[in-house]
Amino acid sequence: MFKAYVITCSDKGFKGQRIDTSGPYIKNHLESLGFNVLELVIINDDLESIKEKIIYASDTLNANLIITTGGTGFSPRDNTPEATKQVIFKDVPGISEMLRYESSKVTKKAYLSRGVSGIRNRSLIINLPGSLKAVKETLSFLDNVFSHGLKVLTLLDTDCGE
Ligand code: MTE
Repeated sequence: MFKAYVITCSDKGFKGQRIDTSGPYIKNHLESLGFNVLELVIINDDLESIKEKIIYASDTLNANLIITTGGTGFSPRDNTPEATKQVIFKDVPGISEMLRYESSKVTKKAYLSRGVSGIRNRSLIINLPGSLKAVKETLSFLDNVFSHGLKVLTLLDTDCGE
């Protein structure tokens, strides 16, 4: 069973000024796919807070999948992609490209998300936008990526031929 960790990046959510519906949706969705969701945390949009949580989830908890939601747009406090880029060891640009491309069929605003994806240790990290609508859409595009990608990352699968 793969281990997952969910991080909601939101100043308002952190201060209790907004109820986080995106994080719980991701948690439930991952559980329905068979993931063991270790934790869902709400943190503020500080660059260092986000880096710290990703590193903790990867280095200490050995989460196989780390999903962030929020903080990928143009607001001055949107720091999630920058934090992620500073802690990943390898880029996985295709996942975020695919999310934007598939999402653009629903709304061209999808291209306003600067989310990135990458690998640290045996953890795949994926930034999703913050709104529940965007989370529902993007997760639906990801279902096929999880299984094979995570098996290769964790050495459960060494054959990409199929
Ligand atoms: N992606 C999908 N699939 N659906 C959406 O409605 N909204 C976009 C974009 N990505 C959207 C989407 C909008 S309006 C913004 S501003 C960006 O995500 C950034 O969102 P964030 O700052 O909450 O991360």
